[in-house]
Amino acid sequence: MTARKTAVVVLAAGKGTRMKSALPKVLHPIAGRPMIHHVLAATAELAPERTVVVLGRDMEPVAQAVAPAAVAVQDPPLGTGHAVLAAAEALDGFDGDVLVVYADTPLVTPATFRRMLERRRAGDEPAVVVLGFRPADPAEYGRLVVRKNRLKRIVEFRDADGEERAIGLCNAGLMAIDGRHALDLLRAIGNDNAKGEYYLTDIVAVARERGLESAVVEAPEDEVMGVNSRGELARAEAVWQRRRRAHVMEEGVTLADPATVWFSADTVLGRDVAIGQNVVFGPGATVEDNVRIEAFCHIEGARVASGARIGPFARLRPGADIGADAHIGNVVEVKKAVVEKGAKANHLAYIGDARVGAGANIGAGTITCNYDGFAKHFTDIGAGAFIGSNTALVAPVKVGDGALVGAGSTISRDVPGDAIAVARAEQKQIPQGAARFRAKHARTKD
Ligand code: UD1
Ligand code: MG
Repeated sequence: MTARKTAVVVLAAGKGTRMKSALPKVLHPIAGRPMIHHVLAATAELAPERTVVVLGRDMEPVAQAVAPAAVAVQDPPLGTGHAVLAAAEALDGFDGDVLVVYADTPLVTPATFRRMLERRRAGDEPAVVVLGFRPADPAEYGRLVVRKNRLKRIVEFRDADGEERAIGLCNAGLMAIDGRHALDLLRAIGNDNAKGEYYLTDIVAVARERGLESAVVEAPEDEVMGVNSRGELARAEAVWQRRRRAHVMEEGVTLADPATVWFSADTVLGRDVAIGQNVVFGPGATVEDNVRIEAFCHIEGARVASGARIGPFARLRPGADIGADAHIGNVVEVKKAVVEKGAKANHLAYIGDARVGAGANIGAGTITCNYDGFAKHFTDIGAGAFIGSNTALVAPVKVGDGALVGAGSTISRDVPGDAIAVARAEQKQIPQGAARFRAKHARTKD
């Protein structure tokens, strides 16, 4: 079998009114990534020769989001068959396989696309391969009419009779079409149906009239679910998260309670990472080997090097770069800061716009005062420095290597290496003061 080329057409011209959103439906995120990007990432694995996204009028934000993919505008939207034809220019003269996918069906895997393409090119080489599934509730999906093992036609729910509505095998909507026939077949589709639309599904009957066969490839329901409402968006998110949890465990990550750990599409985890309960990864997190993340952490835009320990209850914000074997403990927030190898901030601290040198120790309650209401300033803490509890480091400020800052200090001038700095009011002591105070109040008390 010679390798054939693939062209991908992503249908996204539908309005998505049921989302009740100012944001176009296909830009709503799943695992922190717009739905349509999941579709483009999955089809990109097929190394298609070309990809065209079909959009409706006024969908400029989507066009920008999918760049550099080519965009075709379908205006007005007259049905799924009409939508594929909006990409006709890009398909003209293309003799490979045309894979039609929906932008609002974001969970289909590259493996399923490959099965569709393989079926297209195998055995009797059907001109059209339709992705089918058997939903628990077939509801209003189009039904696949199969006789003697052959797909005869697809009937939309609204156009189906009682017998056809009883069919359990439904149309997921996705198709692989022989590019040598695709445009001819699509142009022959009419709109004489309940909705007065040009149905892509009619391509099966049109092909048959020309002696071309069609076949079905089946997928699990979870994979082909469409997103039309916020409820379905949450369901798709849940399916995606379930899959990713299973995957990371297969790859050598321990999840104490998988259902409570949430990943982003771009989360990267090394081997022997152990993650406690209720941990959330926002976009841009990379965690290297042998890291322990205790319960209730939120990690986003951060890198954690091997052997580090994070949490419980830690927050790593964008630009947090935690070095090997470092410890970030409970109620510690790190933003745009490098915490070098073996440094520790174990309790109640804010480290922002800073460097914490190797092996430095940050006491409980330490705050880098990085913002003066106008601009952000940098705090530089040297290797092996010791910052006493409840220290305010008023940036820009530098604490040298090996310096020691006394607890409760407000440090606004640079501290030289190996120096001690204490910046707090002198302690005042009044011998017997407390006893006299109590005695005075005892007299006035009735
Ligand atoms: C379609 C199928 C149905 C299948 C179901 C699966 C047809 C006629 N019916 O129905 O058999 O069971 O999907 O979910 O194909 N779109 C456009 N332009 C249009 C119309 C739609 O780009 O003019 C896009 C939408 O943005 C969406 C996709 O095509 O991504 C599917 O459209 P939708 O209206 O949801 O089709 P269904 O009626 O659900
Ligand atoms: Mg639909």
